[in-house]
Amino acid sequence: MVARVIPVEDFDLIIFGGTGDLARRKILPGLFRRFLSSQMPSQSRIIGAARSDIDSQGFRDMIRDAIKEFGGEESKDSKGLEAFLAQLEYVPIDAKGEGGWADLAKLVRSDVVQAFYFSVAPSLFGDLAERLHRHEIAKSNSRIVVEKPFGRDLESARKLNAVLALHFDESQIYRIDHYLGKETVQNLMAVRFGNVLFEPLWNNHYVDHIQITVAETVSVGGRGAYYDKSGAMRDMVQNHLMQLLCLIAMEPPSQFGADEVRDEKLKVIRALEPIEPHHLVRGQYDANADGPSYREDAENPRSFTESFIAMKCHISNWRWSGVPFYLRTGKRMKARASEIAVVFKPLGHSIFEGQDEQQNILSIRLQPNEGMDLQVTIKEPGPGGMRLVNVPLDMTFAEALGDTDVEVTDAYERLIMDVIRGNQTLFMRGDEVEAAWSWTDPIIAGWEARNDVPKTYDAGSSGPDDALMLLHRDGRKWRDIKG
Ligand code: BG6
Repeated sequence: MVARVIPVEDFDLIIFGGTGDLARRKILPGLFRRFLSSQMPSQSRIIGAARSDIDSQGFRDMIRDAIKEFGGEESKDSKGLEAFLAQLEYVPIDAKGEGGWADLAKLVRSDVVQAFYFSVAPSLFGDLAERLHRHEIAKSNSRIVVEKPFGRDLESARKLNAVLALHFDESQIYRIDHYLGKETVQNLMAVRFGNVLFEPLWNNHYVDHIQITVAETVSVGGRGAYYDKSGAMRDMVQNHLMQLLCLIAMEPPSQFGADEVRDEKLKVIRALEPIEPHHLVRGQYDANADGPSYREDAENPRSFTESFIAMKCHISNWRWSGVPFYLRTGKRMKARASEIAVVFKPLGHSIFEGQDEQQNILSIRLQPNEGMDLQVTIKEPGPGGMRLVNVPLDMTFAEALGDTDVEVTDAYERLIMDVIRGNQTLFMRGDEVEAAWSWTDPIIAGWEARNDVPKTYDAGSSGPDDALMLLHRDGRKWRDIKG
C-alpha cells in the first residue's frame, strides 16, 4: 500500500521559540520529512523567531545540525536538506518589548495560510498574541498553535484561555496534545467506528474493565526542575491518558468533524466520577545500577512528586456504569510500552466442562510495534479432546500493510499539517482542557491535604506493589508491561 500524500496550501509558519529544544528536536525535523515527501509546498516558509541574536543563515546552520542529530535516516539526504533550509528565515524578536516586530510584519505574507507556533513559556502567550495584533501581523484566519502544559490547574488554564481569547477566536487556536497525532490513537477511532464488530460489545454488558498503560523507561533527569513541579498527574494523566480514555469511551460522533468529536470527548470528561483516595497510587522510582533515584534526578531530596501513578476511574453514564477504567503511567519502568486493553467479560455459561475460563481481550498497542491483537478462544489443535486455549489474532500494522511502503508519520508532523489544513479534530478545545483540570484539581488537592507520600518503586519494575493491589483487590490483574 502506498501512502498518499496530499500537498497542503502555501503557508508561512512562524515559530516563536524557534531555536528551542522542541523546535530543534521535533518541529523542524518533522517539517523536513513533510518537505521531503512533497507535502510542504516549495514556496512555503518557516520563520524562526526567538531571542537569539542570529541571522537567517545562523538559524539555517543551527537547524541543519539539529536535523542531522534528530532527523533520522532522512537527514542523510543532503541535497533535500539544503533545499529545505533555503525555506527557513529568522527574525530576532523581543516577546515582551518592541524589538523585531516590524521586521516580522514585513516578512510574513498576508496572502497565504499563516500559522504562529507558540513554542515558548505560557507566560508569554499574552504578550505574543497582543503584539501579533497590534503590529497587524495576524489576520482573522491566522492559526496559533500552543503546547502543553496548558496551565497547571483550572485557574491557570482559564487565564490562558482568556488571554488567547482576547485576540483569537477558538476556531483559530490549536492546542497540541501530541498523543492525538499518534498513528494508533487515530486508528482507535477507525477501529471503533469503521467496523460493525466492536461497537455492539463496547459497553457495560460485555466489557469487564479497561486498562490504559503508558510506561516509559526514561527518567526525569535533565528536566527535573519542570517535572518536580508537575508530576505524572499533570505531565501525563491530565492530558495524554485523559485523551486516550476519551477516545475509548466516547459515544460515536455524528461525523468525524472537529466539534462533533470534541463534543463527545468533553462529555466523557464531565462524566468522570471523582477519584476515591484508595483508588489511587502514587510512586517515585528508586536508584538502581542504571541510574539515580527520582529525588536525585529532580535535585530535590525531599520531593513528594510522583513519577508514577495508577488509578481506578469510573464514568457515570449508561454505557460505562460499573466498568472500571484502570490507568497507569510512570517513568523508569521495565519497558517502554503503551497500550489500551479492553478486557471483555467471561462467558455467562460455558458448555465446555472442566476448562479454564477464557476472556477475550482487545489490546491496542500505541508504541512500540503499533498494532492490535484480539485474544480469542479456540480448540487446542490435535487429539486429546476439547481443550481450549486463548490465542492472539495479531495485527501489527506495519506488517499487515506492508512495512516498506507505509510511511508512519511522527505525531508532530501530522499535527502541524493539520494546522495548515485548518483541521482541529486532533486538537484540544478550550472547554475540554478546562474540564480535564476540573477533574484533576480536586484529586491533587486531596493528596496535598493528606500529605500523601509516594511509594518507592524499583527502577526497571512495573511500579509500586500497591498498584498491583489496586487490581488484585478487584480480582483482576494488570497486563504485563512488554516492550
Ligand atoms: C510528554 C511528557 O508530553 O510526553 C513527557 O511531558 C513524556 O514526560 C512524553 O516523556 C511521552 O511522549 P511519547 O511520545 O514518547 O510517548
